Amino acid sequence: MNVIFMGPPGAGKGTQAERIVDEFQIPHISTGDAFRLAMKQETPLGLEAKKYVDQGLLVPDEITIGIVRERLQQPDCSKGFLLDGFPRTISQAEALDEIAASLDKTIEHVINLKVDRDLLLARLTGRRICKSCGATYHVLFNPPAREHVCDKCSGELYQRSDDTEEKVGTRLDEYTNKTAPLLEYYRNKGILREVNGEQEINTVTAQISSQLRGLA
Ligand code: AP5
Ligand code: ZN
Repeated sequence: MNVIFMGPPGAGKGTQAERIVDEFQIPHISTGDAFRLAMKQETPLGLEAKKYVDQGLLVPDEITIGIVRERLQQPDCSKGFLLDGFPRTISQAEALDEIAASLDKTIEHVINLKVDRDLLLARLTGRRICKSCGATYHVLFNPPAREHVCDKCSGELYQRSDDTEEKVGTRLDEYTNKTAPLLEYYRNKGILREVNGEQEINTVTAQISSQLRGLA
């Protein structure tokens, strides 16, 4: 199964992706995670990406497309994949069609998580992430059992540098201007499925799972 998760920053793509890849046993490919790892390791890619990510701006298409092209060629993608946060521009979507065709793959489902702008702001500014395993929490909506400590691995929790109110504003504008037009692109292909991302986390997972199994 080859699937894309779309939705504005904070819609719950990462939270849901963690669960769906467990259920369907496919790799989770997050361009945001790839950039954050490269930034942490201070590789040439990381240093270049940092200029954009830190401002809440999209990283240029050529860089982002190159990463995905390379990743989709890895053997573990032969059983399927979940793309989280890619594509985010029309050029990226067109490039993905080309890459998929060259690998004899088809995108079967695009899940769009819908969440209102005010709620996105609250979700992003309250988000905390585990330094060790990357698990995602929220100080109010999905708190860990012990403050600042990961339930899964006891790692320390931190706040992403682009989760401040100012940067979240820029990220939401980038989404509206560059990514939202993609919904029409996939609607026209007949593969777009909308899910209300404002519901409880388990409810959202159950609805996505039903959509992917063709039960909804
Ligand atoms: P990326 O890492 O992809 O960030 P994003 O799209 O802004 O998405 P987020 O990770 O912020 O949100 P999410 O939807 O995964 O929400 P989450 O599940 O964490 O990208 C970061 C940057 O990298 C970009 O700004 C750009 O610079 C660059 N980049 C990445 N991809 C790119 C591309 N293709 N092209 C160019 N540049 C690119 O949930 C958020 C919070 O809400 C959490 O605290 C969670 O616990 C909570 N929550 C989730 N669901 C619920 C629920 N149902 N109820 C209550 N709380 C919930
Ligand atoms: Zn952890």
